[in-house]
Amino acid sequence: VFPEARDASEAAAQEIATLVRSRAAEGRTCILGLATGSTVVKVYSALVRMHQEQGLSFENVAVFVLDEFLPMTPECLQSHVRFIYEHLLDHIDVPRDRIFVPDGTVSQDQLSDYCLKFENRIDEMGGIDMLLLGIGRTGHIGFNEPGSGTDSRTRPITLDAITRIDSASNFFGVENVPRRAITMGVGTILDARRIILLAFGEGKASIVARAVEGEVAPSVPATFLQQHDDVEFFLDSAAAANLE
Ligand code: F6R
Repeated sequence: VFPEARDASEAAAQEIATLVRSRAAEGRTCILGLATGSTVVKVYSALVRMHQEQGLSFENVAVFVLDEFLPMTPECLQSHVRFIYEHLLDHIDVPRDRIFVPDGTVSQDQLSDYCLKFENRIDEMGGIDMLLLGIGRTGHIGFNEPGSGTDSRTRPITLDAITRIDSASNFFGVENVPRRAITMGVGTILDARRIILLAFGEGKASIVARAVEGEVAPSVPATFLQQHDDVEFFLDSAAAANLE
């Protein structure tokens, strides 16, 4: 628990930087899984600053983004692909052929094939070394809404009404928020070797307490993180307020 979101974000960025550097020293690729959304913005600005001011290189990095709205075109203001380029990838040196963002333009009949290929690509690259997560008020990680089990893999999912309400301001009205998304599954997430989840602000306090201290159940997918042996929550004091 950190006093401010900025401190937590800086610490998360430092952990990512340390891992990227140690993989580079070993001549290995570092596979990062990355969330989008307001929570992770400061982590990405810290990484950009480390690249620009301290020469931190991402040449040995591959990036898999967790999720994307469906349908969604890349140039749309709210697309996750646009978010991750604008906040991070346009400003650092991750090789372009090692950036993988779920494609929100895939047609319905191609979807299951596409999701399987996305999943296989993660395996072929050697699996995710570090996964950076946010958490939704429904307890979603990625877009794994309540009901998602530990065996779920990358797939299309119907978004919870609360998630659509929480996205409404970005879309200028809830009626414009897509009803579906493509997301890595809970199983995909749990396969990551290390997980950092960030949550900030009082609006996240009750779901954070439920995720950390509540019974493990598909009704709150983030509770499955309790079963992972290398996961940390980086919180500000407001998001930690309901923890015992
Ligand atoms: C988005 C994602 C989601 C968000 C969560 C919190 O890629 O994976 O799980 O992390 O919805 O969103 P913010 O940070 O906007 O509160």
